[in-house]
Amino acid sequence: MSEVTTAADDQSGDALENLLTENRHFAPSAEFAANAIVHGDEYAKANTDRPAFWGEQARELLTWSKPFTKTLDWSNPPFATWFEDGEINAAYNALDRHVEAGNGDRVAIHFEGEPGDTRTYTYAQLTEEVKKAANAFETLGLAKGDRVAVYLPMIPEAVITLLACARIGAIHSVVFGGFSAEALRSRIDDAEAKLVVTADGTFRRGKPSALKPAVDNALATPGHSVQNVVVVKRNGEDVNWVEGRDVWWADTVGTASAEHTAVGHAAEHPLFILYTSGTTGKPKGILHTTGGYLTQTAYTHRAVFDLHPETDVFWCTADVGWITGHSYVTYAPLINGATQVMYEGTPDSPHQGRFWEIVEKYKVSILYTAPTAIRTFMKWGEDIPAKYDLSSIRLLGSVGEPINPEAWMWYRRVIGGNNAPIVDTWWQTETGAIMVAPLPGVTNTKPGSAQVPMPGIAADVVDELGASVPHGHGGYLVIREPWPSMLRGIWGDKDRYKDTYWSRFDDMYFAGDGAKWDDDGDIWLLGRVDDVMNVSGHRLSTTEIESALVSHPSVAEAAVVGAADETTGQAVVAFVILRGSAVEDADIVTTLRNHVGKEIGPIAKPKTILVVPELPKTRSGKIMRRLLKDVAEGRAAGDSSTLADNTVMNQIAESLKA
Ligand code: PRX
Repeated sequence: MSEVTTAADDQSGDALENLLTENRHFAPSAEFAANAIVHGDEYAKANTDRPAFWGEQARELLTWSKPFTKTLDWSNPPFATWFEDGEINAAYNALDRHVEAGNGDRVAIHFEGEPGDTRTYTYAQLTEEVKKAANAFETLGLAKGDRVAVYLPMIPEAVITLLACARIGAIHSVVFGGFSAEALRSRIDDAEAKLVVTADGTFRRGKPSALKPAVDNALATPGHSVQNVVVVKRNGEDVNWVEGRDVWWADTVGTASAEHTAVGHAAEHPLFILYTSGTTGKPKGILHTTGGYLTQTAYTHRAVFDLHPETDVFWCTADVGWITGHSYVTYAPLINGATQVMYEGTPDSPHQGRFWEIVEKYKVSILYTAPTAIRTFMKWGEDIPAKYDLSSIRLLGSVGEPINPEAWMWYRRVIGGNNAPIVDTWWQTETGAIMVAPLPGVTNTKPGSAQVPMPGIAADVVDELGASVPHGHGGYLVIREPWPSMLRGIWGDKDRYKDTYWSRFDDMYFAGDGAKWDDDGDIWLLGRVDDVMNVSGHRLSTTEIESALVSHPSVAEAAVVGAADETTGQAVVAFVILRGSAVEDADIVTTLRNHVGKEIGPIAKPKTILVVPELPKTRSGKIMRRLLKDVAEGRAAGDSSTLADNTVMNQIAESLKA
């Protein structure tokens, strides 16, 4: 495992300052607290017997085709099983049972397309679509346990595809549309996917944006496992067609039977793989299974968002390509019978008020978005949301990165009418569901802090040696006990699971985040302590981008750092040493940015690439990223006494002046 820096090294000055000065608290209104779904006694109840608490949630929130008799098996840590002898079907829980209970006419999804087209799916209609997709996929030869790569925009077919896979026990692996053909291929290969589901494309800022060509490129070289590609017609652009391999969604799913009986799958049957960046070059296929994942996503969705399914309209703005779009778009809202909004486009298309127009139109009551979006809205100005009626909003959520108190206060005042509680939710692809967050009817919320471990979650902050730190102190965020939606491993790599998460401290899950308890006993997240960057809430690995850069023939060496950025949280800044004549190439920076785009995807393109003569290294050859971060953030470089050659920082400074 890669060496970690101390949390203190990574604490930004801002975060520390906030910790010292933040004394604002906001109690829920009496009305909110009185109507809240979950009350404060939940903590004590859960902490008395965590597995029993989760067992109770699993029975109450889900319908099991075979009830479980065991809750947790932790006899072989860090490999947990939850509800192991139970059987359950995720799609049945998300769909059929609501129809059977008489709620078939309730709206499941209000879809808003980027060009302004809309579609509404009731629970009955969505159930029918998923049954058709399940039949169509089975006709294409897909069986339980097979893997399906999903490369789709934010359209209802994404949710339909995922639930159809879950229904038949196939394992979905969604690849975000911002990843390149190369990245898609490596994920297809790693999971040995048999089927790809994609679209001709989508729309971005009023223009068609293609997806199918990336799939064609990914599959252009032989040696892959894909038998069929199902293509949704979305933007109507011409596509290349491979006879015998490619089939239109309309011709397969569209013509399939709407009769399909869901059977139960074992609670520990894999539900999905989702690749995420770690500290090494190769993305990890995070594996989630069924029963525990559904239990914790459903519970947290209800408790943290205070979901009243009969009256609320929930909108999570995350793309289905990320874990948030799995847990809080595809699974939890539907399991809980909620009505939700799904939007295809960006917040600024065709105008900067698009989000607020959507909130007004569908009377969104719960909005869950990312700090990077909130900071962008702040920049655009509060007169934009002021043009819309946002009075339907009664709860706001934040996820993906630390939310600075100033953005939190703006969110509360401008979007939440100074009244809606804000829940800042800390969790990860690996944790599957929310782990640290206020309970909106209970907790006095505090700008900038994710605050309290969820009932049933044993989160703690520890020092270098794994000892709990007292209030007022910082260290590493860990989870001391297994939780239902924890990752079950890394696809195809058991050892890496142990090494990455369970070996830094004995018997504790190491999250990779620095954190601090404040004097009130609230948790503050202070950013990653490893080589993972967080750009606009997207997780990127410094090593992965460095590997992409050095794979270009003009690059001799590269070092990447995440530099603080006002809007995106962090921005990718790359330092490169060029080979030979590339030094004279005036377009080299553009060439290299595009190269990273091709290797990983547009989301990973460095914001800045600085050409330097040398990189600062210790005597053992380790690049001192801390010093490069100083340069990238415009500070005087810190202590460089451990450098092998301490003239290097001067050489870099001189070259950047030139
Ligand atoms: O550093 C933390 C940050 O995002 C990381 C997880 O990224 P990912 O797996 O892509 O999942 C993002 C959505 C759940 C964490 O290790 N992070 C996530 N939420 C927060 C956060 N940092 C601070 N505050 C949060 N609320």
